[in-house]
Amino acid sequence: MTAYQKMTPAQLAQEVQVLREQYEVYKNKGLKLDLSRGKPDGDQLDLAMPMFGILKDQQDFLDETGFDCRNYGVLEGIPEARRLMGEILELEPDEVIVGGSSSLNLMHDCVGIGFLHGFPGGKGGWRKEETVKFLCPSPGYDRHFAVTEHFGFELIAVPMQSDGPDMDVVEELVKDAAVKGIWCVPKYQNPMGITFSDEVVRRMANLSPAAGDFRIFWDNAYAVHDLEPGKGDKLLNLMAELKKAGKPDMALFFTSTSKISFAGAGIAAVGGSAANIAWLKKHFGLQMISGDKINQLRHARYFKNMDGILSHMEKQAALLRPKFDAVLDALERELAPTGVASWTRPRGGYFIPLDVMDGCAKRTVALCKEAGVVMTGAGATFPYGNDPKDRNIRIAPTFAQTKDVEMAASLLCLCVRLACGEKLLQEAQLTEKTGA
Ligand SMILES: Cc1ncc(COP(=O)(O)O)c(C=O)c1O
Repeated sequence: MTAYQKMTPAQLAQEVQVLREQYEVYKNKGLKLDLSRGKPDGDQLDLAMPMFGILKDQQDFLDETGFDCRNYGVLEGIPEARRLMGEILELEPDEVIVGGSSSLNLMHDCVGIGFLHGFPGGKGGWRKEETVKFLCPSPGYDRHFAVTEHFGFELIAVPMQSDGPDMDVVEELVKDAAVKGIWCVPKYQNPMGITFSDEVVRRMANLSPAAGDFRIFWDNAYAVHDLEPGKGDKLLNLMAELKKAGKPDMALFFTSTSKISFAGAGIAAVGGSAANIAWLKKHFGLQMISGDKINQLRHARYFKNMDGILSHMEKQAALLRPKFDAVLDALERELAPTGVASWTRPRGGYFIPLDVMDGCAKRTVALCKEAGVVMTGAGATFPYGNDPKDRNIRIAPTFAQTKDVEMAASLLCLCVRLACGEKLLQEAQLTEKTGA
């Protein structure tokens, strides 16, 4: 196949004609497929089902200190759950609060605490300030951006590079005291799949923000989600770097077992320095008496430690690899020769990022939808849902069955080719007409 950019207008017209016919065939299949949200599928969830058989007798509900987990108390979480989540976050158990079943909920609560009361080192609640700004490395996680938009903050896009956010830009922007935080998914970033380099982590730890209570929101949602066990990316420990830099308060750490055990029904954790933990405990203590320690106990007993988590994640990876391969094979086979798209092969996480020709992402996603395949909305990975180049598409292959992923990926490739082919043809026709 000739690369589209090298085709003559006549060849392009012929190609678009063929693609339209193929597209009509797909449309008539009545597909109903979804590559939009990063959710585990049923087989993956089944892997953690033995957890429910673990707590049976009265005695089983006592934590390692003998505390009855069926009762109120222990706001910060039971020791064995703090240790387990601490291992995932690479923090000490007393640097972790295990709370609820959703890390996004904890992030929202922390933004809320900043809004109402600020954080240690600051001048009080951010609500008192005329403008509050948050840095949003983009493409990034739409729900992060939505949280800070919901609080009325101004979202500032920071370009994502192959090794993390552009730190030259971040270092410059944090000189503004209105900038209170930055969203980061440092490992297998949603949606780019990349892991921040050691240099990016070090520069992050050494930031000198003008706001005394600026916080890095370090959402390590995919900390243990290697697709090839043993061959995953290594993320430098931000807390260790912050301590070296004498700035241990500058980050809040988040994770959950939503994509380890049960989505939205696992256990979630927030971590930080002693000052941050004390601050959060004070405010969380007004929101609730204590969290669901029965679920904490179930998780701690089932996984035991990092070895338990990693062996569980190996089983998940075996289920996920064919789905990722189905997408990557389709991209390689059907898009590589055309030269109209680029992508990376992530070593873990839940997403494959696809960049198409500028100005073609929305049209591609609309074509997919019309033929029965739901993709994440084009633009969703940017603040305010606005991808200035209209080129990024997030592919989430985890939820559908492999054969459906294969079908959806083939249709997606066809739609990319059609959207880009049409655009190039239009441009070529315009050039012919104007002689430009
Ligand atoms: C980066 C990231 N953080 C957080 C979440 C949500 O986590 P939770 O279920 O713990 O709220 C997701 C879900 O897709 C995610 O991709």
